[in-house]
Amino acid sequence: MLEVELCSLKMKNPMMLASGILGSHASSLIRISKHAGAVVAKSVGLEAREGYKNPVVINYAHGLINAVGLSSPGARAFAEKLNSFKTEGRCPLIVSVFASTPEEFASLTSFFPMADAFELNLSCPHAENAGMAVGSNPELVREIVAEVKRSTEKPVFAKLSPNVLDIVEIGKAAEEGGVDAVVAVNTVRGMSIDITSRKPKLSNISGGVSGEAIKPIALKCVWDLYKELEIPVIGVGGITTWKDVVEFILAGATAVQIGSALFYSYRMLYSLMESLRAYTRQTGESLAELVGKAHE
Ligand SMILES: Cc1cc2nc3c(=O)[nH]c(=O)nc-3n(C[C@H](O)[C@H](O)[C@H](O)COP(=O)(O)O)c2cc1C
Repeated sequence: MLEVELCSLKMKNPMMLASGILGSHASSLIRISKHAGAVVAKSVGLEAREGYKNPVVINYAHGLINAVGLSSPGARAFAEKLNSFKTEGRCPLIVSVFASTPEEFASLTSFFPMADAFELNLSCPHAENAGMAVGSNPELVREIVAEVKRSTEKPVFAKLSPNVLDIVEIGKAAEEGGVDAVVAVNTVRGMSIDITSRKPKLSNISGGVSGEAIKPIALKCVWDLYKELEIPVIGVGGITTWKDVVEFILAGATAVQIGSALFYSYRMLYSLMESLRAYTRQTGESLAELVGKAHE
């Protein structure tokens, strides 16, 4: 009742680990894969990148604000770490990549033979020459997707930003480029100020808001993309309870990703899975049957 198929990936439930949440360690991905339908690794670029100085993540009443700055060990070193993920019986592994040009994006796929799919980070709100800086231009998004699709036969997802003027326009550009699914959304731009020091709390001044606070924003993006696009939508942003998962599915998400909520409890995927199982037993419908039902 919980199984979903997403662009040929077979998932035991619709819940994926969102990118960046458990750092760059394969051991964390392996641990979470026991209950996750799929896992998305932290975004990686071609070269090693330091990211910003601490503090890079702050906690507030309704979620997190982060400006990690796409820190990454570089493609070759990260691929070595991810090799240990792939053994029989593990859930699908999605490798998230960031770059500045279509060619650079495409060159990344060959480093990761262990990946079952790729997610293009077109949406990080706090990185120079990457993420949203390249993902806000529909022409460029179309070219990036087309170039990546030429480089791999595996499914390719485009992760979109809620900070752009029109997320549907960017989603359509990705679809025209040949992307297999869109992921909505990355974090919403925001900041926080320490009233004692009278300074911004994040070293980068501003960052991306995630967690409960952004759920209604993410849900509306999923709703709009489902209405206008032909390809599957993966929903992400503020999912904390099993009811949130159902809401996203009813809005049109084939699968969902969970990020900030896992900061507080590693084990929550197990309880969400059990609650979703009870829900489907009660309604007699599988989750796959509910996709987009709120539009009818
Ligand atoms: C600390 C942190 C690091 C993140 N790193 C990445 C990343 O490397 N790549 C990416 O595409 N998204 C990254 N994200 C965004 C999440 O994958 C997700 O889109 C966002 O947090 C919204 O989901 P949530 O409300 O469930 O956390 C990061 C989020 C956080 C909080």
